[in-house]
Amino acid sequence: MSSPEGERLQKVLARLGVGSRRHCEDLIADGRVLVNGAPARLGQRIHDTTDRVEIDGVPVPVRPDLVHYLLNKPAGVVTTAADPQGRPTVVQLVPDEPRVFPVGRLDFETEGLLVLTNDGELTHRLTHPSFGVEKEYLAHVEGRPGRGALRALRQGVELDDGVTAPATVAAIEPDVLRIVIHEGRNRQVRRMCEAVGHPVRRLVRSRIGPLHDRTLAPGEWRRLSLDEVRQLEEAIAATSSNSRNGAGPSRPQR
Ligand code: URA
Repeated sequence: MSSPEGERLQKVLARLGVGSRRHCEDLIADGRVLVNGAPARLGQRIHDTTDRVEIDGVPVPVRPDLVHYLLNKPAGVVTTAADPQGRPTVVQLVPDEPRVFPVGRLDFETEGLLVLTNDGELTHRLTHPSFGVEKEYLAHVEGRPGRGALRALRQGVELDDGVTAPATVAAIEPDVLRIVIHEGRNRQVRRMCEAVGHPVRRLVRSRIGPLHDRTLAPGEWRRLSLDEVRQLEEAIAATSSNSRNGAGPSRPQR
């Protein structure tokens, strides 16, 4: 794929599924494509292993060596590359090569969707506190949370590291809450539910920004499509521009 003189940009973009060759040429001609931060020229050749391409400010995953996996993490697995206590790790559930790392973490007992990748820049953007991509959880809790508990979870709960940002919360069954947050504090959902008197019995992450998949069994993984990686990049870019406009994720108040 990568030749010494590089490959024409519109061809790379078309191959990645951005659109037809003609559409990609139009994007370039309209000044919507940047290569290494500078407006791209029609016919420009790029090296897909080293050049950084963006469309409308959203990075395009052009590097062929990058892999992105979506894993349905089972309970009883640690979200690290290696565990000093010898417990099973999430990286043991995906291929050994190329070496990938989990993006963020789920607790030992938490189940559900986790991204693993060797794309360091995406990892940085997804885990940086200034970007707050939505994460959706299904929390099976003790008792039946009433209106007051739901309201508190929605408005913000006082935790020992500050009040939580407003969350979207719905009781989908009397003892199962769908909770959408965009912060990434340690054991946040468990601590929120505990704080309103309904400790979590089981916690499953069902969505990360645009990524969801109800067909993956616990322990199963699949590669993200380029379109999904792009949607994820778009979600990250949207939260960062929201926070620049002051409409984005609020930081924990201390
Ligand atoms: N919130 C938690 O409490 N635990 C997780 O694993 C993720 C979010």
